[in-house]
Amino acid sequence: MSAIDSVLKETRLFPPSDEFRTKANVSGMEGYNALCEKANNDYEGFWAELARELVTWKKPFTKTLNDSNAPAYKWFEDGELNVSYNCIDRHLEARGNKTAIIFEADDGSVTKVTYRELYERVCAFANGLKSLGVSKGDRVVIYMPHGIEAVVAMQASARIGAIHSVVFGGFSAGALRDRIADAQAKVVITANQSVRGGKAVPLKATTDEAVALGGCESVSKIVVYQRTDAAPEQWSDLNIWWHDLVAGQPADCEPEWVDAEHPLFILYTSGSTGKPKGIQHSTGGYLLGSQVTMQWVFDYKENDVFWCTADVGWITGHSYVAYGPLGIGATQIVFEGVPTFPDAGRFWQMIEKHKVTTFYTAPTAIRSLIKLGGDLPKQYDLSSLRVLGTVGEPINPEAWIWYHEVVGGGRCPIVDTWWQTETGANMIAPLPGAVATKPGSCTLPLPGIIVDIVDESGAPVEPGKGGFLVIKKPWPSMVRTIWNDPDRFKKTYFPEEYNSKLYLAGDSANRDENGYIWIMGRIDDVLNVSGHRLGTMEIESALVANPLVAEAAVVGKPHEIKGEAVVAFVVLKGERPEGEDAKKIAKELREWVAHEIGKIAQPDEIRFGDNLPKTRSGKIMRRLLRDIAKGQSITQDTSTLENPAILDQLAKSAI
Ligand code: WT7
Repeated sequence: MSAIDSVLKETRLFPPSDEFRTKANVSGMEGYNALCEKANNDYEGFWAELARELVTWKKPFTKTLNDSNAPAYKWFEDGELNVSYNCIDRHLEARGNKTAIIFEADDGSVTKVTYRELYERVCAFANGLKSLGVSKGDRVVIYMPHGIEAVVAMQASARIGAIHSVVFGGFSAGALRDRIADAQAKVVITANQSVRGGKAVPLKATTDEAVALGGCESVSKIVVYQRTDAAPEQWSDLNIWWHDLVAGQPADCEPEWVDAEHPLFILYTSGSTGKPKGIQHSTGGYLLGSQVTMQWVFDYKENDVFWCTADVGWITGHSYVAYGPLGIGATQIVFEGVPTFPDAGRFWQMIEKHKVTTFYTAPTAIRSLIKLGGDLPKQYDLSSLRVLGTVGEPINPEAWIWYHEVVGGGRCPIVDTWWQTETGANMIAPLPGAVATKPGSCTLPLPGIIVDIVDESGAPVEPGKGGFLVIKKPWPSMVRTIWNDPDRFKKTYFPEEYNSKLYLAGDSANRDENGYIWIMGRIDDVLNVSGHRLGTMEIESALVANPLVAEAAVVGKPHEIKGEAVVAFVVLKGERPEGEDAKKIAKELREWVAHEIGKIAQPDEIRFGDNLPKTRSGKIMRRLLRDIAKGQSITQDTSTLENPAILDQLAKSAI
C-alpha cells in the first residue's frame, strides 16, 4: 500500500480531553474558529493585535503589512524593537530568578541558568563582540556545540543588531566555508570541540580547515569557546578564547534598537540546485511567529518545562530553543547529547528527571527509539508530560500511536507541526485544546495562515486529490529573501506560473473531506533524511568533485527509520568496479561526501554503472533511478530513453 493510500484510510480521531480543553489557551473548536474568523475579517488587524500583545516594541509600528513590492513583503516596518530585549530583559522584573535554561551535557551533568544570569552572560558576550568591531548588520557565523553558549551567542548577536548564521556542528569544513563566504562573516564563533554520544567532534580544527580553503577573507576573528580540555592544534592571531573575550566586559549592554524588518539571521538550507539558500529572516515578524505558536500550538503555561530536542543549527532550534521559549519566558531544557547515549532511555530519563511538560522531537527519533527499546519509556515516570510535538517529516501512524500511548500515556495531545526553514514558525498544526488529531496528519492551518492545495495552473484541487501545497497570503514570520539572491527567492517561492502571488512550499499534500492536511513529500529534488533537508544536486556535486567520478545521480528511497535514504548512482572515469573493488570505492566515496558536506549527506547505498539512464537530449531520467533504488521493476514509459540496456545493469548493481 502506498503512503498516500495508508494515510487517507486513517480514520482514528483523537479529540482533546475535556480537562485539557478547559484549561487550554485556545479552547475548543469555537476558540479556533473564532480566531480564524477574526483573521478572515481583518487580516492585518488580526496580526497587528497579536504583534502588540506578544512583542514588546521600543517604537510601536503604525503600518502592519506593506505589499507594494511583493513578494518582498514587509511587516510592522516602522516599528522598532530588539529580539534579545524581548527574550531576556522584559522578563527580568517578574522572572529574574526563574530558570531560563536547564542544560544537560552529554555526560549527564546539569547546569541551570536563570533569566538574570542569562542576561549577564548575553550582555558580556555582546560587549565582547562589539570589542571585536562587530556592529549592526555585520554577519556572525556560529559553529558551536548545542549548549548554553550557542544560545548566548545568538542572543548576543541579536542584541547588537548583528545577523547570525548558525551552521550545524555536523557540517564539514567545505560546507562551513561556503556559508562563511556567502554571508561574508566578520566573526566566526566556535568551540575547541563538541561532545556527542561520548565522542569529541573537532569543531575548531574544522573551522581552521574551512578558513584555509580560502574565500573567508572577511573573517577578522574566530572566537573559541573551551568546551573540553583538549588544546587546539592551531592557534594564531585570528583566534581568541571566549573566556578571554568576555573577561572584564560589563554585564550590561544597551540593546541596539532595530527596525522590524532588520534581518535577525540567515540560515542556509538545501534547495533544488547545488548551492544552499541563505534564508533571511526578519526581526519583528519572526519573533511574533515564534511567540504566537508557543501560545497556540504548545499551549504554553508559566510553569511548563519546555524541551525541543532540535539542535540550534536547524530552524527548529532557532524558533523553539533560541527564541520561542525565551521570548515567552519559559524554562527550557537544552540537551547537548544524542537520544541513544548512554542508552535509548536517555530522553525518557531526562523527561522524568527534569519534569518536562512539553516535548518536541522528530519522527525519525521516535522510530529509532521504538526500535531500540519500545518498552523503555515504561520504566520512567513520564506523568509530567502535557503536550507532545513532532516536526520535520510526516509521521507514520504506527509511530504516532506509540508516541501517544507509550510516551504520552494516552493523555497528551500530539501536535504534528508542518513548517519549514522558510516559514519561520509552525504553520499547519493542531491547537491541542481545540483540534482533534488524526495520526499522520498535521491537521489544520493555524489561524491567519491561509493554505491551499492547487494543481499546476494554481486552481484548488478537490479533497482526496493530491496537489501542491501553497500559502495564499503573506504571514509575519515568512522568509524575506535569499541572501545575495533575490531573484532566486522570487523564482523559487513565488513562481510566475502562479502570478507571483502564491507561496510555493515545495511539498505535495492532500486534503481529506474534513479539511485535514496530509503532507506527502517534496516535489523538488530535495530529500528528507531523518528530518534533514538534503539537496540531491549538492550530493551529486560533491561526488563528481572526487577525481574518480565522471558522473553521479542521487535519489531517495524509503527507509524505515530515516524516512528517506540516499542512493547514489555513480559512473567512474575508469572501469566500472565490481566485487571487493566496488565495495572499497563505495566506502571511499561515502567518506568523501562526509568530508565535503557532512555525515548526514553520506549515501546509504552506492551503485556503479557504465552510464546513467538518459533521454536523447542527455537528461538523466531520475524517476527510473528511483524505481531501481526501491528494487521495483520498471513499469514506466522508457520510450524516450537513449540507452535502455543500462537499466538492467543498474538493477543488478547493488553491492
Ligand atoms: C520540510 C522543511 C520545519 C522544521 C524542520 C524541517 C518537511 C516539516 C513536517 C511535518 C510532514 C514535514 C516538509 C517541509 N516537514 N515538518 N510535520 N509533516 N513534513 O525544516 O529543513 O526547512 O524542511 O520538511 O517537506 O517542506 P526544513
